[in-house]
Amino acid sequence: QIPQALAGQHWVITAGPTMEAIDPVRYISNHSSGKMGYALAASAISRGATVTLVSGPVQCTPPAGVNLIKVKSADEMLAACESNMDTPASVFIGAAAVADFKMKTATDQKMKKTSDSDEMQLTLVKNPDIIATLAQDKRANIMVGFAAETQNVIDYAKSKLERKGLDIIIANDVSRADIGFNQDENQVTVITKQTSWEPAKAAKSELANQLVDFICQHSQSTPSN
Ligand code: C5P
Repeated sequence: QIPQALAGQHWVITAGPTMEAIDPVRYISNHSSGKMGYALAASAISRGATVTLVSGPVQCTPPAGVNLIKVKSADEMLAACESNMDTPASVFIGAAAVADFKMKTATDQKMKKTSDSDEMQLTLVKNPDIIATLAQDKRANIMVGFAAETQNVIDYAKSKLERKGLDIIIANDVSRADIGFNQDENQVTVITKQTSWEPAKAAKSELANQLVDFICQHSQSTPSN
């Protein structure tokens, strides 16, 4: 491992969940801890990259030297990524668990229970797909996504690679209790258009180093970059 191999590169990484307001006191979110994204940021920094970490609400400690941008909603996350990628970034990694839907209209005031109905309906609309939008606009030379799946892990990940226009997708099986969401260890399959690679189950910090190395090698072997 060459410590300063990424000097001069700008990596933009999303991490954690997004939080979509329902009203001023309630929200829609998920269990993403942000650990994988923060570990990737730390690893890229340790190799000399300038790293912008666009993070949803998490408990993780940001690595020293990171350009941390805290956001809540998916709309804010997309805007923060775009405004930090004025020239194409070297690498974009979407490690965030972006909420699929947001409220069609979040209310300004706290929603009240009514005594005449036991049911409540919320109208949701799709959030923007952050990584697909950035890939379409070629905002980074290498686009890396994650695919957290509970079944048909490899097939679903391959179709996401194609559909979102990514170079690399990192698939993991979140139905397993020992890896994935909120765990310190992870086991993944790394898939590109040409190859796939399954590193051994490892601590997220160790796996992050292996993934950063893989991304570097991939970018060196991709002629257009
Ligand atoms: O949620 P999904 O399985 O589609 O996520 C796959 C990849 O797309 C992840 O890298 C995630 O960060 C990214 N994504 C995104 N914006 C969304 C949904 C997912 O950037 N709205």
